[in-house]
Amino acid sequence: MGFEGVVDLRSDTVTRPTEAMRQAMAAAPVGDDRYGEDPTVNRLEERYAELVGKPAAMYVPSGTMANQIALRLHGTAGSNVVVGRRQHVVAYESGAAGLSGAFQMHAVDDAGGLVNIDAVAEVVAAGQGGFWPPVSLICVENTHLASGGLAVEADSLASVAALGVPVHLDGARLFNAAVARGDTVAELARSATTVMSCVSKGLGAPVGSLLAGPDDLVAKARLHRRQMGGAMRQAGVIAAGGLYALDHHIERLAEDHHRAERLGEVVAELWPGARLGADQANDGANRAANKAATGRSFTNVVAFRHTDGPALLEHLGRSGIRAGLLAPGIVRLVTHLDVDDADIARAVAALASFAG
Ligand SMILES: Cc1ncc(COP(=O)(O)O)c(C=O)c1O
Repeated sequence: MGFEGVVDLRSDTVTRPTEAMRQAMAAAPVGDDRYGEDPTVNRLEERYAELVGKPAAMYVPSGTMANQIALRLHGTAGSNVVVGRRQHVVAYESGAAGLSGAFQMHAVDDAGGLVNIDAVAEVVAAGQGGFWPPVSLICVENTHLASGGLAVEADSLASVAALGVPVHLDGARLFNAAVARGDTVAELARSATTVMSCVSKGLGAPVGSLLAGPDDLVAKARLHRRQMGGAMRQAGVIAAGGLYALDHHIERLAEDHHRAERLGEVVAELWPGARLGADQANDGANRAANKAATGRSFTNVVAFRHTDGPALLEHLGRSGIRAGLLAPGIVRLVTHLDVDDADIARAVAALASFAG
């Protein structure tokens, strides 16, 4: 089902709206959202707030804007914002955190999928004791991209929140986490003060993310959105794609996970031990042990170490398969709405024919 013969596994952001989604978008009632008068945007915001179990939500153009607004809401001057060192908010947002406030980012190890709880507790205690700057916010990510799209259990987030500091959950792919784990997104977001999710990724809408939280914070978030130039007008046209995705594309995420599992098996055969997150996931040899411990599982991302990523990408490209690099030496393959079983078979054959 790839476009123009190309199977694009670089990211789940590459999907095109389906015909039915386009029709929903074309038919959407709209108004001026800057005045709060776009009925479709309002419906999308209410729907997301309800799904994640928070009082209010706001629609923004991108996940990056949602994360950066969360930093502006919570991060006080002279404080520490604690974050996993490979999380999107600190590693992949072009240094925006440094522009979002007079706080500093304190990055801790996130090899275990969320954040190292002992490391976070140390920073919080040092702040409370007046040794280090006070901690104004802890950021976590689920699914955790740098662990290969690992879906992390709600208890981990609860332990972080128990430290008594506001928590922002980057749930760009929280719906993938919920489907993979069999939890609701509300369960996975319960301990977070604010949570954001993207409808533009695995859910397949063309544009947009949502930031949810308490009424007062979302009201302030609207001011930040305006300052950042993110207040839109007849945004119902694009928000309708998000609503359609929430109605029709959540359960089908399981298909993406299943296809990623197939790619993961092939990667494990070709490059044993190279897959990120494999020690954590309810997968392969770890299935029984981790199922009992956490039920952590992979979702729609296969990330693995490879000594010559560019050569592998070039080889795949010659077979019409596009893959991406997450970092130097880390290849990633992401399944999504526009990838079907035949595409996976092509990708598997192309991977297997790489001699390196
Ligand atoms: C975990 C995570 N958070 C945030 C974002 C940012 O989303 P956007 O690309 O819409 O700015 C991404 C995008 O890939 C992501 O993977």
